[in-house]
Amino acid sequence: MSHEAGWAHAPGALRGPAWLREPTDPDALVAHLWSQTAHKVDGELRVGGLAVPDLVANVNTPAYVLDEQDFRSRARAFRDAFAAYDVFYAGKAFLCTAVARWVQEEGLCLDVCSDGELTVALRAGFDPARIGYHGNNKSLTELRRAVAAGVGRIIVDSFDEIERLETITAEPGMSARVMVRVTAGVEAHTHEYIATAHEDQKFGFSITSGDAFEAVRRLQDAPGIELLGLHSHIGSQIFDSSGFEVAARRVLALQARVSDELGVTLPEMDLGGGFGIAYTTQDDPSDPAQLATEMSKIVEHECRALGIPEPRLSIEPGRAIVGPAMCTVYTVGTVKRVQLDGGAVRTYVSVDGGMSDNIRTALYDADYSCTIASRPSDAPPVLARVVGKHCEAGDIVVKDEFLPGDVRPGDLLAVPATGAYCRSMASNYNHVLRPPVVAVRDGVARVVVRRETEDDLLATDMGDT
Ligand code: LLP
Repeated sequence: MSHEAGWAHAPGALRGPAWLREPTDPDALVAHLWSQTAHKVDGELRVGGLAVPDLVANVNTPAYVLDEQDFRSRARAFRDAFAAYDVFYAGKAFLCTAVARWVQEEGLCLDVCSDGELTVALRAGFDPARIGYHGNNKSLTELRRAVAAGVGRIIVDSFDEIERLETITAEPGMSARVMVRVTAGVEAHTHEYIATAHEDQKFGFSITSGDAFEAVRRLQDAPGIELLGLHSHIGSQIFDSSGFEVAARRVLALQARVSDELGVTLPEMDLGGGFGIAYTTQDDPSDPAQLATEMSKIVEHECRALGIPEPRLSIEPGRAIVGPAMCTVYTVGTVKRVQLDGGAVRTYVSVDGGMSDNIRTALYDADYSCTIASRPSDAPPVLARVVGKHCEAGDIVVKDEFLPGDVRPGDLLAVPATGAYCRSMASNYNHVLRPPVVAVRDGVARVVVRRETEDDLLATDMGDT
């Protein structure tokens, strides 16, 4: 099996994607893909001062392991770097009451985009005045609840919503503070389904068609409604600031028009979220301080050029705070070596979860990495594909990774950077129970979201009577 240039160079060996490197030390972690307290000792993964094998001996697998210290320090890094901004943690990436409390304790605001997320935030005791409420189809009932709860800002997405808000604020004691979601016509450099500022998509009011200006004009005149400013979100997993630059320029041009034609100075502006993280060694994200400097410079420059005052800025990072803070731990169930055309062999490693706890690989063709978390190995690496236990061929967790050639049933496998959009997009496909989220910190583990039970699974099944 061995070859002088490495196993992967042996004749007939299956090559992974060009960026994938054969590990020099299979027991070492690629540090920047993992949460800050993660490291290996004799092949065993430790997070938050706990050995992962001991941890999952109590909670079983699959399990999401959330490094509290890492989450808090990333939240603080955004808050400090963007000290002149309001930082809204985007709860859609991952939200539970414990996390909502951490967000509040670290001095961030919270972005919710559904009635359910609002429920979790309020249940956690999150100050409603520091909540922003998004969504492209908020019902009258949902809007009324948000206004009545004292939500600090509602991001308005359609003329229908404006009408609903006008109805609500005509009721006694009801007033709303709002922002207008605009589409800046920027295509972020990312997967098509997660780019949200094309003109041809469902979110926001188009700047070019004049709808955004019309929305501002109407909200400005509406009694009981305080218009805070414009909001733009250009997409996700973005690594450079050029998209934000184009968006900020277009949004500020609208801001200048509003000032000229309506005589109104909008005091705030939100540039959304979308800051990229490292899922694999291909990714090289900017740190918050660098982003803050670049974004502030862009806005300062544009406002000076347009001769308008700088609005108070806010941003909405989700993935960049929670993404790297979590990993998912699975148990290997089966290992199958499949001979491909040409004689190469692909090693299929099946784990006890899959597309129900991480749909991102199937949905976005996302790349992940993984490592054995329970033991050392010096077996030569093999190119493996980690797959789930669902009844679907596309049920892939990690498309390509080098794992020790002796990977076997019973091994624990950990996948880093699963904090964002994995538990929050998890499903019960194949009636699989959704895994718990276990927060770890200073050697102590707390289940902050428990594993679903068979009773949970059947709770909504009414039978046929
Ligand atoms: N603000 C708004 C208005 C958003 O729509 C989003 C994400 C965010 C903030 C937070 O974006 P982040 O910083 O987390 O990238 N399910 C997809 C991502 C969808 C993002 C939707 N909106 C994924 O798994 O990649």
